[in-house]
Amino acid sequence: MLVRDKVVVVTGAAGGIGAALAGRFAQEGAAGVVVSDVDGDGAAKVAASIGDRAIAVRTDVTDAAQVAELVAAAESAFGPVDLFCSNAGIATGIGIDAPAQAWAASWSVNVMAHAHAADAVLPSMLARGAGYLLQTVSAAGLLTCPGDAPYTATKHAALGLAEWLAMTYGPAGIRVSALCPMGVRTNMLMPGVEAGNASALAVAASGQIIEPAEVADAVITGLADERFLILPHPEVGAMYAGKAASPDTWLSKMRHAVGKRMETPGTVGG
Ligand SMILES: NC(=O)c1ccc[n+]([C@@H]2O[C@H](COP(=O)([O-])OP(=O)(O)OC[C@H]3O[C@@H](n4cnc5c(N)ncnc54)[C@H](O)[C@@H]3O)[C@@H](O)[C@H]2O)c1
Repeated sequence: MLVRDKVVVVTGAAGGIGAALAGRFAQEGAAGVVVSDVDGDGAAKVAASIGDRAIAVRTDVTDAAQVAELVAAAESAFGPVDLFCSNAGIATGIGIDAPAQAWAASWSVNVMAHAHAADAVLPSMLARGAGYLLQTVSAAGLLTCPGDAPYTATKHAALGLAEWLAMTYGPAGIRVSALCPMGVRTNMLMPGVEAGNASALAVAASGQIIEPAEVADAVITGLADERFLILPHPEVGAMYAGKAASPDTWLSKMRHAVGKRMETPGTVGG
């Protein structure tokens, strides 16, 4: 899909990767960009920086009714949604001892929000026989995220859901991509890195920390190619293939690399 003349919605777009995507879609000539976030003021600032072809809509993506209202607002402002980027996500930095609230929040934001988005936007896309769902997952959905059990489990689930959507609705003209970066310089990762947190440092050590704009570059290329896995860190593809070829060898290497970090959970991104 080329973004030119398309109507696009981006959730989690008050900052970080979502804001970079929204700005880049406008530069690519999108007909309309809906900047959505639970942080309504932040979304409004990003939309204002983009200009006339952007509006801001405050949405808590864990609430299916609010996601349906977001789609309705996009349609009313610009027309039917061509590309829905389900990008909002949270990390906990907690291991298996994460409290129930952290597990529940991770499932709600990192998994169910994608289901709510697809449920809200697919009827119109299916009626038109075309549409694109982009889910921001993570390399943690293909590999793992040291120090964050809820993030790892829910990002794997998000990838499974993206695969299911791609398989089920592909024949009806719907395209799906899963965006799977490693470390990106955003508020999710950098405070932990700057604080010297062991888990965030593990993410930082696993590859280059790239800029949100570089993620946006990879998304534009990946959408144009209609590629299922969009990997802003290309080495993730080889890591994933290595894991699939020999899960035990991969786990052994991970145990060695992670070592004591697994015992020191804390804030983490990636
Ligand atoms: N930063 C990284 O290293 C990294 C790596 C891989 C994947 N990701 C993923 O990228 C996506 C964007 O994260 P980011 O790095 O830009 O972090 P970020 O914290 O800058 O942005 C996340 C945005 O999501 C919003 N959000 C959180 N809960 C929400 C909710 N319930 N409803 C609506 N919006 C909500 C936040 O307000 C925030 O603006 C996430 O899905 C994250 O898991 C990030």
